[in-house]
Amino acid sequence: MLRSLSTLTLLLLTTLTASAQPKAETVTSKGGVVVCVSPPAADVGLNTLKNGGNAVDAAVATAFAMSVTWPEAGNIGGGGFMMIAAPGKDPTCIEYRETAPAAAKVDLFADAKVTWLNHKAAGVPGTVRGLARAHKKYGKLEWKLVVMPAVELAEEGFTVNAALAVGLNRVLADRLTTNAAFKQTYGKLDGKPWKVGDTLVLKELGRTLRLIAEKGADAFYTGELAGLLEKEMKAEGGLITRTDLEAYKANERKPIHTTFRGYDVYGPPPPSSGGVALAEMLNILETFDLKKHSRWSPEATHLMIETMKRAYVDRARHLGDPDYTKIPPELTTKDYAKKLAATIDMRKATPSADLAPEITLDKVSDSTTHFSVIDKDGLAVSNTYTLENSYGNRVVVRGAGYILNNEMTDFNARPGLTTRLGGIGTKPNQIAPGKRMLSSMTPVIVLKDGKPVLITGSPGGRTIINTVLCVVLNVTEYGMTVAEAVSAPRFHHQWFPDVARFEGVKDFPELVTKLKPLGHSVTEARQGDAHSIGIDPKTGLRTGAADKRLDGKAVGE
Ligand code: GLY
Repeated sequence: MLRSLSTLTLLLLTTLTASAQPKAETVTSKGGVVVCVSPPAADVGLNTLKNGGNAVDAAVATAFAMSVTWPEAGNIGGGGFMMIAAPGKDPTCIEYRETAPAAAKVDLFADAKVTWLNHKAAGVPGTVRGLARAHKKYGKLEWKLVVMPAVELAEEGFTVNAALAVGLNRVLADRLTTNAAFKQTYGKLDGKPWKVGDTLVLKELGRTLRLIAEKGADAFYTGELAGLLEKEMKAEGGLITRTDLEAYKANERKPIHTTFRGYDVYGPPPPSSGGVALAEMLNILETFDLKKHSRWSPEATHLMIETMKRAYVDRARHLGDPDYTKIPPELTTKDYAKKLAATIDMRKATPSADLAPEITLDKVSDSTTHFSVIDKDGLAVSNTYTLENSYGNRVVVRGAGYILNNEMTDFNARPGLTTRLGGIGTKPNQIAPGKRMLSSMTPVIVLKDGKPVLITGSPGGRTIINTVLCVVLNVTEYGMTVAEAVSAPRFHHQWFPDVARFEGVKDFPELVTKLKPLGHSVTEARQGDAHSIGIDPKTGLRTGAADKRLDGKAVGE
């Protein structure tokens, strides 16, 4: 039945080209390129390269700048993963995920008063230590020089653009936003909505960043700033103490590596699930002749959805902080992928509930941000960091001016309670003191013959891994340019809910019609924000592709 659909497939491909996804905005250069969601932060990254910095300096400067200019996810109060690939060296990962405070209990969220907006939802922030660790080992410029552009943006102010105005107005108008310091910091003085062209000044955040610029990361974890966070926590019943802050360490970890059709794909290791799940999915898909089916054929889509489900079951079953949980090494092997591939039936979808009979099912914004950098020498950086929800828990630390994450909600909130709606209660990712919560962040670097050809990643909670899968496959399997790969519609299945979410469902009526009889439920949802760089292996030309689903800017030397 499926084989008779090639005409339909061609039709779908044509329809797709004309689909409503915003086109990526591109820049091409033989020199350095920076791509991120926030235009002033992209400019900071580019200026850092022009001032003699390398890609790591530019990434660190961009990350600090985004803590000012993209407050919904750019941060110093959160955490993330930075992948670094230096020419001729094995790629590495700086992991700066938040940790559970020492006082956190496994059933923290059993108390109905502890919601994602609570001070207790905050993990011990990792960003400042992570950026400092990356900079110390891999950067070239003086630390102060990479932090000061953020200080200047915060103290002198910067111009609000449409994406920021929409985000700020939405969060400020939401009745769930109650923290007085948040409203005072991000509200307009006259109480009116933000407009494009307004100037946002963040004096307190500027002072905090200045302390970090002058005294280094210790200023955040041991000095006056640590005292301010502890005071904030004590005042509001939060858990983080000065001792938690002092104990925080960022790690350098070996990335997850797999091969796919001759490409080397590197992603972050646990405590992110991204690298493992992406490798598992690519390994499964490599066993099929995907290209025989076009990108938007029911066959390729069915195979991808079935693959996604299987990887997400393993995510729930096995993945968590590797310092607390033993993760089976076979998950990323080709043999294991072959076994899973053999369980995929081309004629019908496997119901999600059948994939993990041992996990008892109960009845009952994903705001992160990614940026990509490459410098003139080919040093590549792929960084994803987050506050968890947009604007984290919507709390600004009084006196310090930064927004706190609510990353504790990335732990399995209710032990033992795995639900058909997508709640996961399995053991590997349950809360324990000092443990890192499981992430889906998937900053990726793809190499061909030892040289980077694609730097990508995305926000989007659990959808992140599938957004990255779509972009990587679009380039490596389907030969799309990076701009086409970023603009193309994406889809996501995460095991539960047993539904595939598609961008632009209305553009694919025939595809949806063909998927339903196979047993797939399909719904519509926008997905991800994948600011990426593609590098032509023949010419070395770099193309930065800013994903315009939200906003974004690609700049080049
Ligand atoms: N908070 C999003 C993630 O780490 O996956």
